[in-house]
Amino acid sequence: MMVPAGHAVEPSLSIRGLSKTYAGGVQALNNVNINVAPGEFLVILGPSGAGKSTLLRCVNRLVEPSAGEIFHNGAKITGRRRGLRAIRRQFGMVFQQFNLVKRLSVLTNVLTGRLAYRSIWRSLVYSFPEADKCIAIECLARVNMDHKAFQRADTLSGGEQQRVAIARALAQQPKVILADEPVASLDPKIARQVLSYLREAAQELGITVLCNLHQVEYAREFAERVVGMSHGSVVFEGSSLELTDDILHRIYYREPGEEEKEEA
Ligand SMILES: Nc1ncnc2c1ncn2[C@@H]1O[C@H](COP(=O)(O)OP(=O)(O)O)[C@@H](O)[C@H]1O
Ligand SMILES: [Mg+2]
Repeated sequence: MMVPAGHAVEPSLSIRGLSKTYAGGVQALNNVNINVAPGEFLVILGPSGAGKSTLLRCVNRLVEPSAGEIFHNGAKITGRRRGLRAIRRQFGMVFQQFNLVKRLSVLTNVLTGRLAYRSIWRSLVYSFPEADKCIAIECLARVNMDHKAFQRADTLSGGEQQRVAIARALAQQPKVILADEPVASLDPKIARQVLSYLREAAQELGITVLCNLHQVEYAREFAERVVGMSHGSVVFEGSSLELTDDILHRIYYREPGEEEKEEA
């Protein structure tokens, strides 16, 4: 999102000094500091094991950080148990494996994005008000899937399932979308389509999007800004144009024997 010069804008997300050591001693995050502007499409780039998923799970409060804090629109969201449901409502999730309910229709899957706003009994019987159905159809139209609203989810291709998963996240009307390797299971043409829809969510709807990727070429093509991670640390932060060979080496290269050294 463009901000007039001289006007500091409050970050949508502010991640400060975030560390996570899992039981068993793996340090997945090591003093991570990232600010994300409202409506920004930010790519977190790094090899497998870099800590990308752990970072998103800390934001969504599925993983408890060992140290550090996360703020959303200036309010601290870590270190509290109360109001978790309200916090999670602000964060839509998109996963590598789509996570649709196979036996339900496309529309009902998208409607589950509205459940954060509805009572338990409604969610048990999948009963939704008309207003929610309008929202769901609108969100399906955004990803060009409204024509398949009544088809069963398990009859769709992978790319179509991921578009429905994006519609489900949009139906939640979140402030932030957290996408964890959303295109890792898709072929390149479909992957680019899915990333375009995620970028549109940021650019057209002003939703802040954090998108984990391990493929450099997609980061180059789609990211406004890239955060490069290696071994739980941020080792690069800048425009995708700055992803030189040197920087990529820093993100992807693992010293021989480094793992043993770290665990010692
Ligand atoms: N629940 C867990 N328990 C123990 N170790 C974990 C757990 N989840 C992830 N890890 C470890 O933390 C490190 C970072 O993992 P992850 O956040 O999944 O990285 P990425 O998403 O970049 O592949 C890895 O070494 C991984 O094995
Ligand atoms: Mg991961």
